[in-house]
Amino acid sequence: MGRETISEIEYFARALKAPRIRDAAARLAEQAREAGWTHEEYLAAVLSREVSARESSGAELRIRAAGFPGRKSLEEFNFDHQPSLKRDTIAHLGTGSFLTEAKNVVLLGPPGTGKTHLAIGLGIKAAHAGHRVLFATATDWVTRLQSAHQLGRLPQELVKLRRYGLIIVDEVGYIPFEQDAANLFFQLVSSRYEHASLILTSNLPFSRWGDVFGDHVVAAAMIDRIVHHADVITLKGSSYRLKNSGIDTLPSARPENTAE
Ligand SMILES: Nc1ncnc2c1ncn2[C@@H]1O[C@H](COP(=O)(O)OP(=O)(O)OP(=O)(O)O)[C@@H](O)[C@H]1O
Ligand SMILES: [Mg+2]
Repeated sequence: MGRETISEIEYFARALKAPRIRDAAARLAEQAREAGWTHEEYLAAVLSREVSARESSGAELRIRAAGFPGRKSLEEFNFDHQPSLKRDTIAHLGTGSFLTEAKNVVLLGPPGTGKTHLAIGLGIKAAHAGHRVLFATATDWVTRLQSAHQLGRLPQELVKLRRYGLIIVDEVGYIPFEQDAANLFFQLVSSRYEHASLILTSNLPFSRWGDVFGDHVVAAAMIDRIVHHADVITLKGSSYRLKNSGIDTLPSARPENTAE
């Protein structure tokens, strides 16, 4: 292969953040010429090096197992739309040090302000840093805990969940829970307290969580544990979904009803 082509491949591999392609391209080209591979066979061999390296590093598997509703990265997040949010705060969380310290992150704010986006972005960083991650909505977590409870296996389930370095609970507040949900949730929070991290997102300020959980005493005890070691980030403004739509407010975005 010509020098120029090799350096072109090196450039493309860097741009794709695919170092194994860079390493394998020239070496496999030799092999391909000797063994008379087709172009397709050569391309497949090069790509397979990158894919198997990624899979064995496990990050990709952990990302797939996490159950994210979509892929969103911190790099894609537009901070210009969220001027009160410091890039440094998110960049620091992105290093994953909060996970090793078993700290929590709470993302509050009105609809469409990027809570789920940031939660997924942080989850993906966590997976890259080697942590197992599980993402679900608050409603789905309650269903999961309720089924374990009904089978008499709640303690075992909580132990199992503690093996995940990060659990993401999305959308606390959109759907109110029944009282046994408050108790189940409390057990999830207290079983992780000072052991493993949680990321929670909510459209409601903490003062309204008592209504959501239908139990002010349990909600207060739960919030106390969550925020003891936590970064609480409040996102503001209008929905990113409505950007360029000509609509500037949603009915639920009135300050008295939201976490803003
Ligand atoms: N600052 C931003 N930069 C880039 N994309 C953004 C930003 N904020 C939101 N988005 C995008 O807008 C959409 C809505 O954001 P997201 O789902 O994170 O909102 P949310 O705060 O979770 O809202 P909800 O409370 O309705 O669940 C997503 O596609 C997300 O990627
Ligand atoms: Mg959301």
